Amino acid sequence: MALKYTATTVASSLRSLPTLFLSLATLLFTLSLILFFLFSNPNTQITPQTTVQQPYASINVYVADLPRSLNYGLLDRYWSSSATDSRISAESGSRIAPTHLPKNLRFPPYPENPLIKQYSAEYWITGDLMTPESFRDGSFARRVFDVDEADVVFVPFFATLSAELQLGTAKGAFRKKVGNDDYERQRQVVDLVRGTPAWKRSGGRDHVFVLTDPVAMWHVRAEIAPAILLVVDFGGWYRLDSKSSNGSSQDMIQHTQVSLLKDVIVPYTHLLPRLHLSEDQRRQMLLYFKGAKHRHRGGIVREKLWDLLVNEPGLIVEEGFPNATGREQSIRGMRTSDFCLHPAGDTPTSCRLFDAIQSLCIPVIVSDNIELPFEGVIDYSEFSVFVAVDDALRPNWLVGLLRSFSKEQKDKFRQNMSRIQRMFEYDNGHPGGIGPIPPDGAVNHIWKKVHQKLPMIKEAIVRENRKPAGVSIPLRCHCT
Ligand SMILES: *[C@@H]1O[C@H](CO)[C@@H](O)[C@H](O)[C@H]1NC(C)=O
Ligand SMILES: *[C@@H]1O[C@H](CO)[C@@H](O)[C@H](O)[C@H]1NC(C)=O
Ligand SMILES: *[C@@H]1O[C@H](CO)[C@@H](O)[C@H](O)[C@H]1NC(C)=O
Repeated sequence: MALKYTATTVASSLRSLPTLFLSLATLLFTLSLILFFLFSNPNTQITPQTTVQQPYASINVYVADLPRSLNYGLLDRYWSSSATDSRISAESGSRIAPTHLPKNLRFPPYPENPLIKQYSAEYWITGDLMTPESFRDGSFARRVFDVDEADVVFVPFFATLSAELQLGTAKGAFRKKVGNDDYERQRQVVDLVRGTPAWKRSGGRDHVFVLTDPVAMWHVRAEIAPAILLVVDFGGWYRLDSKSSNGSSQDMIQHTQVSLLKDVIVPYTHLLPRLHLSEDQRRQMLLYFKGAKHRHRGGIVREKLWDLLVNEPGLIVEEGFPNATGREQSIRGMRTSDFCLHPAGDTPTSCRLFDAIQSLCIPVIVSDNIELPFEGVIDYSEFSVFVAVDDALRPNWLVGLLRSFSKEQKDKFRQNMSRIQRMFEYDNGHPGGIGPIPPDGAVNHIWKKVHQKLPMIKEAIVRENRKPAGVSIPLRCHCT
């Protein structure tokens, strides 16, 4: 079935849900609206019209018509799979056993497995767009059903799940095309969207793909490079570029290159519960560092830091397990330490940064190439400490620096952090992700970032289209 629900069809499916849920949803929605108007903009009058109806306060989004098998159908497959591979099995902390799921859910829940859950942006963004209009007053994205009215075309492919299902069942085939279901799905998505008039007139520049998992859409990245990509960092992309440029020409612009100009850095989905500032208790430990002694690749910084810090008093340095024990460890460590170390691992960022923020543990970021979500809207230096890798690796330097912060400074960091915790919240608390979203949560902030890029994207499309056919021009930045 095509993913092209009109507001009325989804509304009718919602009506079939228990009335309790509906009234609860309405209540929550009203409450969040009230909170939104009370707290979001203290300088404007408290009249709903001023915020909701301003034409510039939204982005028009058309949802590309993909078959259900490329999004929610992958969840059906996940929940019904008997795969026992550790990568997707329910062992690592799943709260819902597949057998307890009601059958034939139109919007099944997302996996609780931390490996997959940390990359769930696509699920919450799609859920918001699938929600009936009457529940979407707090959404920044305005869904349009005529592609000519659209600012952007959103491609609702659950790329993380597609990749992880393949990795969980036949890992060996992942880097190959033959016998790789994930590749088949990538091919299907790209062929479908590239065949549309909307793609042809923009060269794909106004299409939005979510590629949170570093291995998402692995085989077709070059083909969707002109589009707006929502990624957690640029880690894997630069490796790809240096490989294809043969490590020689520094100034050559590769078609695989991601760019802060056109792409949007999105948060990982945090895995630990939020600690509110009012619940914060005195922290006895200086620094929490959960790491791995031995990394299979990358993460040399992490390994060196481990050796440097493991015997320091006042520090919790521990290895993590991807199970319930690991989760309890992290909650305890992050809530009893002033600072949480965030070194570069396999990629410049990780989910832990967002867990630290939810735990009000001051991030100490030792990752020179890091890119962070929503910069320009928030200033991370107001609640985090940034340290150069070279400095962090000097004996005693890091611990000395962290000990030099006064209690007042640390309290101020935590106060500042408590104000931005909600910006990293994807989960709207509704079954299937269908329902009103928190107005100041991650989904709206992502669309606001995309919205900021529109003028430049439109310019690039116009410029490209006026070129006479067959004209060859020198390679310029393919950023837009
Ligand atoms: C890559 O570099 C090597 C040695 O520097 C060279 O022999 C090879 O031809 C290059 N390959 C390409 C595709 O440019
Ligand atoms: C988690 O994994 C560790 C190491 O394998 C093990 O010692 C511990 O018992 C596990 N805890 C749970 C709750 O499974
Ligand atoms: C907290 O944020 C305020 C502005 O919002 C800033 O002036 C202050 O320096 C921040 N505190 C710290 C410790 O960075």
